[in-house]
This record gives sequence, structure tokens and C-alpha cells, in this order.
Amino acid sequence: MDLSDLQTYEHDVIVIGAGGAGLRAAIECARLGLNTAVVCKSLLGKAHTVMAEGGAAAAMGNVDKRDNWKFHFRDTMRGGKFLNDWRMAQLHAQQAPDRIRELEEWGAVFDRTPDGLINQRNFGGHRFPRLAHVGDRTGLEMIRTLQDYGVHQGFKVYMECTALDLIKAGDAIAGCTAYFRETGRFVLFKAPAVILATGGAGKAWRVTSNSWEYTGDGYGMAYEAGAELMDLEFTQFHPTGMVWPLSVRGILVTESVRGEGGILLNNKGERFMFKYIPPRFAPETADTEAEANRWLAGDKSARRPPELLTRDVVAKAISKEVQEGRGSPHGGAFLDIASRRDAEYIRKKLPSMYHQFKVLAELDITKEPMEVGPTLHYFMGGVRVAAESQMTNVPGLFAAGEAGAGMHGANRLGGNSLSDLVVFGKLAGDGAAAYVKKLASRPQPPEDAVLASVRRATAPLHREAGENPFVVVDALQETMSKHVNIVREREGLEKGIEELQGLKKRAEEVKVHPSSQYNPGWNTALDLRNMLITSEAVARAALMREESRGAHTRIDFFEERDDPWLKYNIVTRKGPDGAMLVEKVERPAPPEDLKKIAHATLEDLEAGKV
Ligand code: FUM
Repeated sequence: MDLSDLQTYEHDVIVIGAGGAGLRAAIECARLGLNTAVVCKSLLGKAHTVMAEGGAAAAMGNVDKRDNWKFHFRDTMRGGKFLNDWRMAQLHAQQAPDRIRELEEWGAVFDRTPDGLINQRNFGGHRFPRLAHVGDRTGLEMIRTLQDYGVHQGFKVYMECTALDLIKAGDAIAGCTAYFRETGRFVLFKAPAVILATGGAGKAWRVTSNSWEYTGDGYGMAYEAGAELMDLEFTQFHPTGMVWPLSVRGILVTESVRGEGGILLNNKGERFMFKYIPPRFAPETADTEAEANRWLAGDKSARRPPELLTRDVVAKAISKEVQEGRGSPHGGAFLDIASRRDAEYIRKKLPSMYHQFKVLAELDITKEPMEVGPTLHYFMGGVRVAAESQMTNVPGLFAAGEAGAGMHGANRLGGNSLSDLVVFGKLAGDGAAAYVKKLASRPQPPEDAVLASVRRATAPLHREAGENPFVVVDALQETMSKHVNIVREREGLEKGIEELQGLKKRAEEVKVHPSSQYNPGWNTALDLRNMLITSEAVARAALMREESRGAHTRIDFFEERDDPWLKYNIVTRKGPDGAMLVEKVERPAPPEDLKKIAHATLEDLEAGKV
């Protein structure tokens, strides 16, 4: 085979992934005159973005006029335990309102306040009602809008097309290889810029809200191309996934249930979150049922209920209740909205949840509590990018949304991902356009690199014997769920890393039915490399970080330790013989004005003193 046998397309920019970040990036690239293509693993419109159900956080102040970007920035930094890239958090807080209004102009039908503004709801860690929403289907509405608007912007979409490898000429991006899942045909995309918008890697765990596409493709490809992965140990377990029936374990139960007043109970009927209020959030959290009830009744002087603490706190509290024998029958907690709101309100505000539990669990949430437990939902870490342009250390390679790192620090606030997607999707598009327009000549993909990529991909089809890739994925999920889960410690992490070495060897020897058409076994064999790179990076970074911060909890290092750990963990393949290397690197200090905002008291911010 030589390059002329390969189907080849040439574009200015390839966006890999068609969730919110990918579509917003593609719209921007096309608007700026780039010949743009979107390559998506699944069908257009099917993306994890739809799993951000409750809303997009943006300080528009439609429901509480006191809100502004400074409060949003402060909440985000505190939620992220101050490890966030401060510039990204600032850009996000400042630009999110414009991005939401733009979606409305493009046709998104948000819920309205009585006076006709975009309605905003409460969510964990947000000081004010801040989530612009469409019932509990906000991500879906955003995808629909971006897709409808995007298809008229003139970019090309390659569907059911899985990216394989980034191809570089020298140091710079020259394109990527991919294959069509339906036909198995390989394709070379020539382009001087690639934007990774590939989402996370939840499928490396057994219980996850992610669907089959989320196998760490962006992380794996970027790592192989020499990019830096940052802070991968921060994997978010959303506190409320379904736990029963087993067939749907992990499916998301939106945080809006708690935002609309839902409470968490253990098997003794205790509202246990009052026991788990961390000192940092104590001044802002109701510590009695009476105060929490006043908040629900709309008293603005009441502090927020403890169910709206940040996700890391709530997920760990549920795990502890289960571990200490106070869990629900299927190993979770009870989430009760039925006793807090009337049936009509619930069906209006939470239509998808009502339907989801009726159909999947034969349970009426207007009458009975749900059973819920933590589910792997989101990666705060990802490919390291520059805040303004979203470019990585590899010239021509960009990352946005969950594929990128920095914005959320050690823990993401609910609702900040939908706004992140549109803010940083747009910035990645701007960054890619600026980069492409400055190029004097276009890097050309070297033939040997392209052919090596195709040979790697076809190897499992040609083997005489070998293991079934699904068995290896199953073992990987077992390893990650056992040793790199919500609570971690040295011994388990070391064991996990050892098991991952064995799994890497097994993955290199898998064999599949020798046909590349409609072959899920082959597709899975190819996903394995990225899943394993991501998993190893998570485990090694988690072992390195000897503290507990946000979504990373070490029972052997239970405290958050600013010194020496207010730093980034960078993973590269710069170890001996190309092995994985984890390094602790300094985090640039925030400018004084932003530091003041992040650490201000609410009273000072409200009084405009900061
Ligand atoms: O609970 C949710 O609706 C999820 C939102 C998010 O992850 O931002």
C-alpha cells in the first residue's frame, strides 16, 4: 500500500468530535473563512454534551441581579480548589453570558422567567441561580442549536469516522488518519490544524454516565503526538447516577433534582449532608433543616442547602454512607424530590428524569425517592492548552471542552461544562484560524507516518490468534474501578499501575474477526490504546499527587496541601525509551486582582469592595 491508495481529503482545519466544543469550534473556523471539517465517531448530534442536563452556567443575573462574572469566577476557583488556570476561569466567567445569548439568537429555546428573560436555576457551588436551562434537557437543546446553525455555515461533516493518529511533519501538525466504521476504509485528512474536541474517557470505568464513544481518544492521540497531558488524576464522579436496575447503572440523574430542592437521605431516613459540610463552605451553607427549608421557600437571606455543595463533596458523602452500612438497598442513597415539590412542578422542571425513571426503573419520582450513587462523569484534566488560543505545545494542535485541561482545576462545578464548551470552542476556532492564516507553507504528512498508522490499525485483523478485545476492556474497567476510583491510596494505585502494564501487553495481542466492515470487535481493539494511555496517566498522576484535593482523594494523604501541591501534574512520553513520565510543575501565580476576587468574602463582593 502507498499513499495514493488512501482516500485523502484536504482542509484548513479538522475538528475531531462533534459535541458542543467541536461544533462551536467548527462554526468559528468556518465563520473566519477556513475550509473546515468535523470528524465524528458517532452520528452528528450524539455527544456527551447531552448528559449535561441541568443547564449552562453564565452570570447573566436574570434571576438574581447581584450575580456578575466576579462571583462566577470566585465560585469556579473555589470549586476547583484553586488549582484552575486562573486566566481560563476568568475568560469563561466573562464570556459565558455572550455565548449563551448567541445560542439564543441561533435558535435555542431556553426556559423563561416570568418577565421573559432566560431563566436560571440553582446548582452546586454556584452562589446564585446561574444555570440557563431548558427543563432538564439543556445539553440536548444546545447540540440541536449548534448542529442546526452549524450545517448552514458550510463545514463538512464526516460521520461514523474514528480518528486514529495525529500526523506531524517535523514538530507541526500535518493532519490525521481515520477510518469509517461502516466500511472500514482508511482515510487521510491533510490539514495544518487539528482541534481535539473528543470529550473524556469514562468508558475505562465500569460505572459511568459516558456512552461507548468516550475512550480517551483525544488524550491518547495527543500524548502519542508529544503533547502534554495535565492533571488527569482529577476525574469527576457525579454524585447522582442511577444505581438500579443494574442494566442502567451509571446513567445520569441530573443535579437539577437537587437544584430544584431534592434532598439526599440514607436508609435511616437521615438527611445526611448536614454532617459533611467542609469548613471552606461552612459560611455559605445552611446547617439546619429549618434554614434549608427557608431557602427552598425562596428566602434570599437563607444559606444554600448542603445537597448543593460541590460534586466532590456530595459524591464522597454518599460513598461514606454506603461504606458505613447506611446505603439504599442497591448501594446508593435516596434522592427525594417527591416530598419537596408537587407533581406538576416536578414534571414541568424535570421531564426527562420523570420519564427516565418511569421507563427504566418503573418508579414515579413524583411519589417515591430515587436510588442514586456516584458515576464517573467528567475529566477535569486533559491536554494542556494556552488559555487564549487553546493551542497545545504541538504547533497546530488545539484542544477544547473536556479534551482540554485547566479551566476546572481539581473539581468542576455543574453547569460549567456547557458554558466551557461554547467559550473555549469559540476560542479554539479563533486560535486555529490565527495559526493557519500565519503559515507560510503547509506541512505535508510524511508517507511513513501515515502508513505506520494504518499498519497499527490493521494488525488485530491479521493475527492468527489472540485475545478478544472486549475481555481486555472488561479487565481494564475492573482495574480502574477497584484501584483508581473515588477514593485512592498508594498500595491500590501501585497495584493498578502494575495491572495496567499487563493489560497493555494483552491489548497489543488482541485478535478480531478479520473483516473491517461493521466490526465492533475491531473498533474496540483500536479504542484500547487510548483507553490504556489515559488510564495509566490517571493512575500515575494520582499516585504522584500526595494530597486530597477536589475530585482526587487519597486516604493516605487526606489533607489538601497547598504547599507543595498547588501545582500541575504533567504527563508526557518523555521517560526513558518513550515511557510515560509524570512531573510536578509550577503553576503561574494569579495576578493580584484575580487573587483578591477568588479569596474575597461574599459580603465584600456584594458590597463591591473587590
Ligand atoms: O447534573 C447535570 O445536569 C450535569 C451537568 C453538568 O455536568 O454540567
